[in-house]
Amino acid sequence: MTVAAVVLAAGKGTRMKSDIPKVIHPICGRPMVAHVVNNLREAGIGRIIVVVGPDGEKIQAILGSDVEYVVQEEQLGTGHAVLQTQTILKNHSGSLLVIHGDTPLYRAGTLRDLVSCHESSEAIGTVLTVTVDDPFGYGRIIRDADGKLEKIVEEKDATPVEAMVREINSGTYVFECEPMFAALCRIKPQNVQNEYYLTDVVPILREEYRRVQVFSHGDADEALGINNRVQLAAAEQILRNRIREHWMLAGVTMVDPATTYIDAEAVLEPDVVLLPFTFIEGHTQISTGSVIGPFTRLKDARLGENVIINQATVLDSSLEPGCNVGPYSHIRPGCHLRAGAKVGGFCEIKNTVIGSGSKVPHLSYLGDTDVGDKVNIGAGTITCNYDGHDKHRTTIQDEAFVGSNCNLVAPVEIGTGAYIAAGSTITGDIPPGALGVARNRQRNIPDWAKRRESKRRPPKKES
Ligand code: UD1
Ligand code: CA
Repeated sequence: MTVAAVVLAAGKGTRMKSDIPKVIHPICGRPMVAHVVNNLREAGIGRIIVVVGPDGEKIQAILGSDVEYVVQEEQLGTGHAVLQTQTILKNHSGSLLVIHGDTPLYRAGTLRDLVSCHESSEAIGTVLTVTVDDPFGYGRIIRDADGKLEKIVEEKDATPVEAMVREINSGTYVFECEPMFAALCRIKPQNVQNEYYLTDVVPILREEYRRVQVFSHGDADEALGINNRVQLAAAEQILRNRIREHWMLAGVTMVDPATTYIDAEAVLEPDVVLLPFTFIEGHTQISTGSVIGPFTRLKDARLGENVIINQATVLDSSLEPGCNVGPYSHIRPGCHLRAGAKVGGFCEIKNTVIGSGSKVPHLSYLGDTDVGDKVNIGAGTITCNYDGHDKHRTTIQDEAFVGSNCNLVAPVEIGTGAYIAAGSTITGDIPPGALGVARNRQRNIPDWAKRRESKRRPPKKES
């Protein structure tokens, strides 16, 4: 396909009432405009030009150098925005798909069908339209007596009769470049919003006896344009449903799809089971046989096969096959659990490696720690990794045994097969095979209770 695409993303997005540009608000974890670019790529469009406003660097930071950019210094309307691409496209011979950065829900097949409909016709322009129950906010498609496209009228400029039309302009078009730019040079901002409307090329092209056709599409959801946060939430809902369906059909079990939230970038293998109230965010990857949830949040987590995570949070960490986490634990960024490691209930670990087959079963905090293989960490173990200025590492070698309720004051190293007596505060290294004890010996005072009783004054008599 020699078609190029222009994505309009320079608008202020006033109706979002936001400090950040509208088109970078995320939908299922991916910025709105990145969905648009993705959809175009999936439809096979190679060359993509994004029109950005003066604060376009935020959009560039997201889309990178895979697309080209044109800056629209002043937001004078959609027609003015497209006109800014005239120079960059002067040698472009094929047709041009124009799409808005706030319509992220098109399926690649729909965009391909739109392009083929255009290319197999004699038309200079093809407008994608849908029919909706509530056309509020959209441009209305006005047809002439023969049913041909006559013009597109914005909501704010529409007469009451025009406003009743439910067929709307999706804002996605295919044009022949040269006549489109020629028509764009002639449009005037003579409307309620004083803007240069792209839609005004329709009557100009008609005047020149050029054909502009309609491609009416059946699925109105795909054309949803996001102008405010209500529409943002509606788009999120539609996309979430699609993502759920996609993964269920790919072999993932969801016990309760309605409370299972999966971001656009997540990748799941067949025979993953997702229990209710589970959030699979960011670039999370889950391998086959893993059971996640209930009440679990994974963000940028990489899980091997047969991992079990129950009521826990895992952020930016890798878990090898057979690991087991939860309930009520927090795996913070930078952790690596090797095969078969266990982090049980009420634990927090951060920037920590847990070796193969090692266990942190209850109520521990491990930060900046390297735990070897087959280590047992007793209940309530705490690494004291922060001295108020700097973080220090703790190393616990293979097969060490840390008794319950120990503090390990970093930097410190526990040797292979060493033991630590329960309740110790360890401030120095322990050699391999040694027992570290760092607590007071117990002292028993005989008959203490009886003596205490005898010293007690009798209770006051009630008056
Ligand atoms: C536009 C269409 C309307 C259509 C609707 C579909 C026009 C005049 N109206 O209305 O017919 O039904 O989309 O969703 O085209 N933008 C720029 N520069 C500007 C103005 C806008 O780049 O100067 C970009 C915005 O970032 C946005 C897109 O163009 O991504 C559409 O602008 P918006 O203001 O949302 O237009 P609508 O009022 O939705
Ligand atoms: Ca819009």
